[in-house]
Amino acid sequence: MQQDRLTALMARGAAFLGSEVAVLGGAMSWVSERHLVAAISNAGGFGVIACGAMPPALLDAEIAATRALTDRPFGVNLITMHPDLAELIAICGRHGVSHVVLAGGLPPAGSIDALKATGARIICFAPALALARKLLRSGVDALVIEGMEAGGHIGPVATSVLAQEILPELAEAAPIFVAGGIGRGEAIATYLEMGAAGVQLGTRFVCATESIAHPAFKKAFIRASARDAVASVQIDPRLPVIPVRALKNAGTELFTAKQREVAARLDKGELDMAAAQLEIEHFWAGALRRAVIDGDVEHGSVMAGQSVGMVKAEEPVADIIKTLMAEARAALARNSV
Ligand SMILES: Cc1cc2nc3c(=O)[nH]c(=O)nc-3n(C[C@H](O)[C@H](O)[C@H](O)COP(=O)(O)O)c2cc1C
Repeated sequence: MQQDRLTALMARGAAFLGSEVAVLGGAMSWVSERHLVAAISNAGGFGVIACGAMPPALLDAEIAATRALTDRPFGVNLITMHPDLAELIAICGRHGVSHVVLAGGLPPAGSIDALKATGARIICFAPALALARKLLRSGVDALVIEGMEAGGHIGPVATSVLAQEILPELAEAAPIFVAGGIGRGEAIATYLEMGAAGVQLGTRFVCATESIAHPAFKKAFIRASARDAVASVQIDPRLPVIPVRALKNAGTELFTAKQREVAARLDKGELDMAAAQLEIEHFWAGALRRAVIDGDVEHGSVMAGQSVGMVKAEEPVADIIKTLMAEARAALARNSV
């Protein structure tokens, strides 16, 4: 029976996560809070709290509030450059958080050991094969490989290429979850057949009924097509821009104008390099919150992946997961004929 085939392909990932299906709800700053995280875990997936820039006391409260809404396992996503990383790890330990996802670059010295000591399973993003091997050698339990189709901060390589480079080499060594650009179950089936233990989706969950994202943020997602979700563009080699995929809006245009203005002031000697780079870095400060919470989708940062075109309506998390699984089953059934 095909149901068994999907279940079989997901068995390792689901066992690793302690969930029914091997689908992680990718942590999204401001969006992945108690309600969405608990809803994903309650629907059989694996929700992940986005700690983002939260101070330790807020993470403490968010974990407790999430636990009050679900008795299923969920994870916490920590950004490695958070100034209070050690304290955040200790808080996860005190709550007995079963899985911690480390995002934002290679984990700093000591963080993996500190997490191991809490008993948590550690999941890291691997941007390339060599780094994936290095992370596994350093004691990481599982990997997410995320391609540039994804929403939010992105690397330069497509999901399809990362999957081909990394899954054949490492899928046996550790559970690997594929992320970036997944909007339908057919893609989930494909990555599972290539050896993935499961998948991680972010964009697809933004418009869940349980998501607290502002109605204007959800509306922007429902209206958008794949081509509207663009990576931020750097226009001057001296002024680095961290690539972020978001829906293009007035803020995107203003950011380009800002880079031009700062570059001109740099040329004239009105700014030194450090001050110029700081102006660029600070342009988007607080912008995701403005879009997600305040609903300012014109000047805020509407982070979204290319799969946004497949988000057609607001619907409960349970329905989203049910649809994805039905599509994956149907694809596996077709493939086995
Ligand atoms: C609005 C938004 C915010 C995000 N914030 C974070 C974050 O704080 N930490 C993180 O590791 N990933 C973040 N991501 C990436 C997601 O966790 C996930 O890996 C990604 O959305 C998967 O690709 P997809 O959008 O194509 O489904 C964010 C994505 C979006 C769309």
